[in-house]
Amino acid sequence: MFRFQRILFTQTDRYERLGNYKYRASKNKTVLLTKNLIESAKMIEIRLMTIDDLELGLRLTKQAGWNQTESDWLRFMSMEPAGCFVAVLNGASVGTTTTCVLGRAAWVAMVLVDVNARGRGVGTALLKHALNYLEERKVKTVRLDATPAGQPIYEKLGFIPEYKLARFEGIVLPDKRKPVVTKPTPELFESIIEFDNRMTGTDRAKMLGRLFEEFPENIRIIRHGNLIEGYITARPGANAVQIGPCIAASETRQKCRAAEGNAGPALLCDALKRWAEKKVFVDIPLDNPEAVKIAGSSGLIIQRHFTRMYRGEPVKDNVRTLWASSGPEKG
Ligand SMILES: CC(C)(COP(=O)(O)OP(=O)(O)OC[C@H]1O[C@@H](n2cnc3c(N)ncnc32)[C@H](O)[C@@H]1OP(=O)(O)O)[C@@H](O)C(=O)NCCC(=O)NCCS
Repeated sequence: MFRFQRILFTQTDRYERLGNYKYRASKNKTVLLTKNLIESAKMIEIRLMTIDDLELGLRLTKQAGWNQTESDWLRFMSMEPAGCFVAVLNGASVGTTTTCVLGRAAWVAMVLVDVNARGRGVGTALLKHALNYLEERKVKTVRLDATPAGQPIYEKLGFIPEYKLARFEGIVLPDKRKPVVTKPTPELFESIIEFDNRMTGTDRAKMLGRLFEEFPENIRIIRHGNLIEGYITARPGANAVQIGPCIAASETRQKCRAAEGNAGPALLCDALKRWAEKKVFVDIPLDNPEAVKIAGSSGLIIQRHFTRMYRGEPVKDNVRTLWASSGPEKG
């Protein structure tokens, strides 16, 4: 009895210090419920993510069955060293999020909360912290790819759905067609990044530059003279090769020969052919039916859906030029 009273006293003491609680012995149940809410609301701290949190990041991605590797986490931290965060609940590190400022727009990604810490406001606290950081950085638009679990949280924070993407996965069927694409020399990387900027309305130099540097052997382009008509790249993942981004549009459509006229399908088919008989993931907007058809006819099936969302000023991009997204964390 004495012990029980002591525990209650300690709890009362703690609540009074939090300034939000009046103890009444007859309402023990209410006390406990209030305690849970107060604790989850008050005990979440958000701190900067550092290289020492790599293990946490990898544990959470593995737990969620995501595809990111150590080099993905390192890339996030190097792209936005002051904008990657960890949530600490009652002293334990339980959640992550990353941001990436790309000119006027920014991406939020890697919103992950340990299964044992979910439903206590950790995800919301991480998002709010990330949004404050991005507001200080004066970005006009924040975008992200939401899973069904994340979408309600983002909607509550003012994000608006833009379009849906499907994650295709599977072992690619072999394809004997002759390739029409070429491997670019490093001198062309800048032109590819400029082309991407024109097509997506976002300066993604920071992200693409890093991807190209890490995996130069995976880039393919279609060009007409000096004009880039499209590019595709890919990177290894924990579960499968992630194909994308693939951005393609025929800016010189009138002058093109038939074989070069449609860069998107050629690039996507070529990448699938190069990874034939390997397990791949490709994230494709459902509003690009031709890309969806190619993935399906290559033997891939839909594993899950994401919803691309934005908050702030809409970014003017054309979803028809998006043949494979970079992955949910990069847009
Ligand atoms: C999506 C995810 C990040 C959410 O994290 P979370 O910490 O559970 O999120 P929150 O606790 O802030 O919000 C979840 C729910 O708990 C509720 N909640 C928030 N604060 C709470 C509190 N103090 N006490 C009880 N419930 C609370 C929220 O209202 C929300 O309820 P809703 O589903 O009715 O909207 C987490 O489920 C996760 O890691 N999922 C796997 C990876 C993933 O899909 N990430 C999203 C990428 S887009």
